[in-house]
Amino acid sequence: MTSDRDFPAGFLWGAATAAYQIEGSVTADGRGPSIWDTFSHTSGRTLNGDNGDVACQHYERFAEDLDLVHELGLRAYRFSIAWPRIQPDGKGPANQAGLDFYRRLVAGLRERGVRPVATLYHWDLPQALEDLGGWTSRDTAERFAEYTAMVGDALSDGVDMWVTLNEPWCSAWLGYGTGVHAPGHADAEMARLATHHLLLGHARATEVLRRVTKAPVGITLNLGGKIPATDHELDLAAARRADGHLNRVYLEPLFKGEYPADMDELYPSSGPGRDAVQPGDLAAISQPIDFLGVNYYSTSVLADPSREKQAREAGYLVYPGGLGRHPRPDRVDVGRADVVRTAAGWEVDPSGLSKILVRIRAEYSPLPLYITENGSAEHDYVGPDGAVHDAARVRYLDQHFRAAKDAIDQGVDLRGYFVWSLLDNFEWALGYSMRFGIVWVDYPSGKRTPKDSYRWYKAVVSENALPAST
Ligand code: FCB
Repeated sequence: MTSDRDFPAGFLWGAATAAYQIEGSVTADGRGPSIWDTFSHTSGRTLNGDNGDVACQHYERFAEDLDLVHELGLRAYRFSIAWPRIQPDGKGPANQAGLDFYRRLVAGLRERGVRPVATLYHWDLPQALEDLGGWTSRDTAERFAEYTAMVGDALSDGVDMWVTLNEPWCSAWLGYGTGVHAPGHADAEMARLATHHLLLGHARATEVLRRVTKAPVGITLNLGGKIPATDHELDLAAARRADGHLNRVYLEPLFKGEYPADMDELYPSSGPGRDAVQPGDLAAISQPIDFLGVNYYSTSVLADPSREKQAREAGYLVYPGGLGRHPRPDRVDVGRADVVRTAAGWEVDPSGLSKILVRIRAEYSPLPLYITENGSAEHDYVGPDGAVHDAARVRYLDQHFRAAKDAIDQGVDLRGYFVWSLLDNFEWALGYSMRFGIVWVDYPSGKRTPKDSYRWYKAVVSENALPAST
């Protein structure tokens, strides 16, 4: 019997991780340094000076982690491949020991009946390539294709789905535009170049994968709602700029073969970055893909910088320079006073998830979608009973699963959902302070403890349906 709580048959329930955030063993088997090793070892760049040297010890304990995936009943697992394990110097022949690790990982998933979903680039650029300009250099897109060919040859017999890039907005803007992430440059011109070269890298990698595999190929974008603080025209324009910056600058080249015209002053289609776009680039970037991966966490509310006072009067929380995550001169991130926030301070807005999914279908493409990341950092702790009762995370996931179901009911071809994250892990510049896992990791010992959310998710997966109530 079916009910209106059911997800479509075969819905791909999964969990996601990324190499640098969990693996540790940063010098094992010939791995070279990545920009995140350099960045996290530079004083003042990450909270408490945390780094990924040890992380969750996943490189050594991966079999135990795959058992956790299997015991939960997940149908798929999204992981990323560390480029510096495959090409320690960013060029030259493949390091066999690095490939072997991912071959073992993929085989381990298949043995357990879990579909491997591989992300080729989740931010850990070999440092040697950054020394040559990193993503500001067009050549990095070609190097990415070379690396993709090596990984494709080694893993195409086992990987079920390929994601070229994870969140190019973060690589470009947090890495080169604001400097909050590695490699830590705060230069809008560099970010513009990086945006285009990342998308070109996606295009080149897609071409390579088409030659070696028939498995679906896609890209993962971080997308989200950008709402005006008031209906004043200046706030509407600020929200539209923010939407262009995060969403349209990636969606439009991928699906329409052009950068959004109204973003000319900010992006490589004009201004100092214009020279980056060469004939044929946008046709390559807009070549067909098989699915779009959507990472969704939150919605933000924007005001024009000249209207901070009015935003405050309208009841928003306004901090000097905005909420501080990515202050920009052309808009201010203001906070809604009456919403639930995660431990990371991000506003919880499940309706933003259904809206973005419906919008992609209406404005860009009816192609299959996967939520490749969604989850929350919460103030978790191990209780006196030895368990982690993460009720806030259960509530967050429950609300977002309902929003996903709502989008499906509105006709969106949503095929799967990967919870971020399987494990607590190294949350980039925020170090180990933010716990996103459905499994608690005791960092000193590496011991894993499934949280309440893990068991709650297990029931959802086994029923393939929303719980009656949570
Ligand atoms: C996303 C990243 C992922 C993780 C989550 C919380 O932007 O892709 O690695 O850090 O945020």
